[in-house]
Amino acid sequence: MAAHVSTGNRQRLIAAAREAAQSAYAPYSRFRVGASVLGEQGIHIGTNVENASFGLTLCAERAALAAAMSNGDRLISAIAIACIDAGGDQDLSELLPCGACRQWMAELCRDAEIIICGAESVHIFSVEELLPMPFQLLTVVQG
Ligand code: THU
Repeated sequence: MAAHVSTGNRQRLIAAAREAAQSAYAPYSRFRVGASVLGEQGIHIGTNVENASFGLTLCAERAALAAAMSNGDRLISAIAIACIDAGGDQDLSELLPCGACRQWMAELCRDAEIIICGAESVHIFSVEELLPMPFQLLTVVQG
């Protein structure tokens, strides 16, 4: 069942994601992303953290989810994502989370609502909508 998120908490999450994006470390793409995660303890934030090797770049959503997990905040009801350097709201695809982040969401907060912040619009998705068939490890190999 999808988590209920109040309008006030939605607004706080959006503001936190937009503010976090200002601190993004994105010297290569210059595409700053901020994310905020609402857990039982409150709001955790993250930004994208790029690396000269490119492939080691960490997305904002996973940074924010890692912050929540690192604080022991396991019950996540919402994530807001703000790509403040995106071209505009016409093409949503530049604002959506990448596949790796969707897989993290499927594991860590399957019932959370995902709030996509455009410059002038807000779109809400379920994790199921973003990743209908996630990988799940059902078989544990015994040593
Ligand atoms: N990025 C994110 O932070 N989240 C996503 O889901 C998509 C992409 C970052 C990674 C990189 O620093 C920049 O956006 C351009 O791809």
